[in-house]
Amino acid sequence: MRKLKAMISEAKTISVLTGAGISTESGIPDFRSTKGLWREDVSRMDVISRDYFEREPELFWKYFKDIFQIKLSHSYEPNSGHLLLKELERSGKDVRIFTQNVDGLHHKAGSGKVYELHGSILFAACPECGKEHHLDYINEQIVPLCSDEACQQILKPDVVLFGDMVRCFEEMYESISESDLFLVIGTSLEVFPVRQVPLDFRHKATLGMVLINAEPTRLDPVFDLVIHGKSGAIAKALAE
Ligand code: APR
Repeated sequence: MRKLKAMISEAKTISVLTGAGISTESGIPDFRSTKGLWREDVSRMDVISRDYFEREPELFWKYFKDIFQIKLSHSYEPNSGHLLLKELERSGKDVRIFTQNVDGLHHKAGSGKVYELHGSILFAACPECGKEHHLDYINEQIVPLCSDEACQQILKPDVVLFGDMVRCFEEMYESISESDLFLVIGTSLEVFPVRQVPLDFRHKATLGMVLINAEPTRLDPVFDLVIHGKSGAIAKALAE
């Protein structure tokens, strides 16, 4: 913790990569921990794919709502992990957050620079006319249709599905290359291409690399500092 505090206080520009682990203390299950969403039924990953959406859009929505029910219920709040990142920004540090999460909690915490690599659950667009619809509208129907009477196409969630391109990837590389600290919080670093990022920056002498995760990851050895623990508790200790 002492080393973490020193690395954070010395840093001016901090790039942060977060995963589902930063949101579990807000009540949202992650994917690969013991009670994770994929642990229950790996085939679910096949359903959350662009291919399945295009083949079976109605079934896709039934599965999607079932799997992401808590996120779709939209009744969760940022925890001390999200709030710490906002505090660092408020204290004058240049904090850029690249999140794999689709839960919108970094925005809700008030962070200014948030890049959603995997999109967001809060919106769904019409594949035909592009019209954006908010979560409240999406929740009104089992299979949400475009609200434009002349269109009525089945909406696609604004979430990056398996088979889609990840977003903001160049911005993330640019941001890390001009940062003096790279903070990775709550991710198993299993999913490509995100898992590649720490490897690409491991030899940058001017960049401190920190991993905060409840469980060991395959990439632990790549980091200058690894803390195995809950991000909420660590954030609280740091805030004090
Ligand atoms: N504090 C710190 N780490 C935590 C906490 C916590 N409170 N709770 C869970 N973790 C850790 C878990 O130990 C796990 O290693 O967070 C990690 C979450 O890993 P995953 O469940 O794999 O989630 P993530 O890395 O975000 O998955 C990336 O995979 O399925 C896709 O699109 C999905 O965005 C997701 C991507």
